[in-house]
Amino acid sequence: MRIVYKSRDEIFRMRETALVVARILDELCAAVAPGVSTWELDRLARAAIKREGVVSAFLGYASPPYPAVTCISVNEEIVHGIPRKTKILREGDVVGIDFGVFKADLCGDSARTVIVGRGSPEAVKLVTATQRALDLAIDQCRVGNRLGDIGAAVQRHAEGQGFSVVTVFVGHGIGRRMHEDPQVHNYGEPGTGKGIKAGLVIAVEPMVNAGLPDVEVLDDRWTAVTKDRKLSAHFEHTIAILDEGPWVLTRPASTPGNPGHDSFSLHSPPLEPS
Ligand code: MF3
Ligand code: CO
Repeated sequence: MRIVYKSRDEIFRMRETALVVARILDELCAAVAPGVSTWELDRLARAAIKREGVVSAFLGYASPPYPAVTCISVNEEIVHGIPRKTKILREGDVVGIDFGVFKADLCGDSARTVIVGRGSPEAVKLVTATQRALDLAIDQCRVGNRLGDIGAAVQRHAEGQGFSVVTVFVGHGIGRRMHEDPQVHNYGEPGTGKGIKAGLVIAVEPMVNAGLPDVEVLDDRWTAVTKDRKLSAHFEHTIAILDEGPWVLTRPASTPGNPGHDSFSLHSPPLEPS
């Protein structure tokens, strides 16, 4: 139960893993269309894993062993949706795709939610709010802040939009294992919790429900759904905290509004004279 802080060198190597995750997620999201099954998306991910020469972080994980390389959670499914041949996407569906790999010995983990074609206004608002909640949380990932600042940012935005935050699942430290300490809650009080130090690498993953926060797990023992069967959305990034600020490792290099994310140098900047 202790945090493994990463060296700058390890963080640069984690960026390599994370870019593979981002690339494959791009491909999976682009393949989302009416008539496509979640099983087909998982096959696509398996082919991409082979092509990239990486190893799934999900396949065989935990107990019962997770049976796929993606988690694809549709509409009322929150997270850990198992891809199925019979789960055929339809116009307006809210599709969360969660994906993680190991490249060499380091893990990357990320999730996005997309809507098939045109979504209802409620679906669009939910997905937008969840993505924004993650962005606001990322902005709190700074040396000198506390873990509670991250959760508080998620909760404040999600609840401010009239939605609720899932509390039974959490984000996590990540590195040589997919799940390391600390747990990163999606709720909290600002200024509370463990202090954030340089070298911390975490996966922050808000799950936001349109209705109540209550969760049920289906008979497959993985798929988590909203108890009220209303919509849920999920976004996740692997984020490294450097002295200079957060580096969103699983954000593709080409993303607008992510300036300087590849301008970090392997060596720490000189300390500001005080
Ligand atoms: N990204 C999720 C997590 O961080 C998915 C892992 S569940 C698995 O917990 F079983 F698929 F590995
Ligand atoms: Co995760």
